[in-house]
Amino acid sequence: MSTIPVMIPWLGEEEALAAAEAVRSGWVAQGPRVAEFERAFAEHLGVPHAVAVSSCTTALHLALIGAGVGPGDEVVVPSLSFVATANAVTYVGAVPVFADVDATTGNLTPATVEPLLTGRTRAVIAVDQGGVPVDLDGLRELVEPRGATVVEDAACAAGSVYRGLPVGGTAALAAYSFHPRKLLTTGEGGMVTCRDGALAARLRRLREHGMSVSAADRHAAKGGAGRLETYDEIGFNYRMTDIQAAIGLVQLRKLPAMVARRRERAERYRELLAGTGARLVADPVHGSTNYQSCWLLLPDTAPDSRTVLDALAAEGVSARRGIMAAHLEAPYKGTARVPLPVTELLTRRSLILPLYHALTERQQDRVVDALRAALG
Ligand SMILES: Cc1ncc(COP(=O)(O)O)c(C=O)c1O
Repeated sequence: MSTIPVMIPWLGEEEALAAAEAVRSGWVAQGPRVAEFERAFAEHLGVPHAVAVSSCTTALHLALIGAGVGPGDEVVVPSLSFVATANAVTYVGAVPVFADVDATTGNLTPATVEPLLTGRTRAVIAVDQGGVPVDLDGLRELVEPRGATVVEDAACAAGSVYRGLPVGGTAALAAYSFHPRKLLTTGEGGMVTCRDGALAARLRRLREHGMSVSAADRHAAKGGAGRLETYDEIGFNYRMTDIQAAIGLVQLRKLPAMVARRRERAERYRELLAGTGARLVADPVHGSTNYQSCWLLLPDTAPDSRTVLDALAAEGVSARRGIMAAHLEAPYKGTARVPLPVTELLTRRSLILPLYHALTERQQDRVVDALRAALG
C-alpha cells in the first residue's frame, strides 16, 4: 500500500525545460527571468510592484522594514500561523502581540485585534491562513487611522480571491511564499508586493545588500564609472535566482488550473465527510480559498488529533496536525497578553488532509475511509 502524502507539487516537463534554459543561458543568479516573473506576478495580482525574494519569511522581514517597524514597536499577529509570521516581527526588534482568530476562517478580525492595539502598535500582520482570505478592509479601517500599517501575510494565498480580486491585490504590502507546500512553487522563494514606487525601489535595494545599482543593471551597462554602486543602508542577500523564476513563470500560468482542481477535490471531501461531524474549512463570505491547507476541525466525540494522525498513518495516509500556535512554542511561551481560546482549540483539534493536483478520487476515498475509521 503506497502512502498518500499530504502534498505533491504539480511540476512537470515544462518547468524542467524552463530551468534548463535558464542554466544554458549562463545567467543563473537574479537576472532577466526574475524581472519577468515579477512583472507577470504583479500583473496577475493587479498591483504596480512585485519584488521577488528568497522566501516569504524574507518577504515579511522586508515588508516590516518597509512599513517602518523597528525596536520598541508592537506588531499584532495571529498566534495561529506558521512561526515565521511572529519571527519576522522579532527580526526587526519589535514585539509580536498575539491576537485570537475567528473559529471558522482561522483569521484575525477587528474584534480580536482591537483590544491589543496600543500607542506602540506600528503594524498588524493579517494572515490568509491556509489560503482563506482574511477580511482585510475591516482591519485596515481599524488600524490605519491610528497610523499603523496592515501587512498581508499571503504566504498560502496565491490564487485565493478577496472581494472579487486576487488576494493581496489591494494591500499596501503583501508577502507570498513559493515553498513546495504552496500551490505555486519555485522550490524556495517569495514575493513582496506594494503599491508605492519609492518603497518598491527601496525593497529592491534591501534584498540585494542595499546596493544602489543592481548587479543585473551593472551587467547591462557593461561597467563604466557611471554605474558604480553605493551602499546607503544595511541590506540583505534575499535574492531569488533566475532558475527559480523560470520555474515560477510556468507555475504562474498553471495557477488557475491548480486552484480549480483543489476546489473541486475539497468539495468532494466535503461530500464524503458528511455525517462525520468533522467541519471542513470553507469559503468565507468575502472571498474564496485556494485550499492550500485543506483543514478540518474534529468533532467533539473524536479522539485527540495525535491519535487520529497515528491511525491515518497506519493506513498509509500522511495528514498533518493543524496550524501551529506560536505562543505555545519556546521562544514565545508566556508572552500572550490575552487568552487565545480559539487558537488553542484549532491547533489542538484540527488536522490537514492530503490535497494536491494529482490526488485521485480513489486516494481521496482511502483518506476518508481511514478518517471515518479513526473517528470511530
Ligand atoms: C502564514 C505563513 N507565513 C510565512 C510562511 C513562511 O514561508 P517561507 O517558507 O516561504 O519562508 C509560511 C510558510 O508556511 C506561512 O504559512
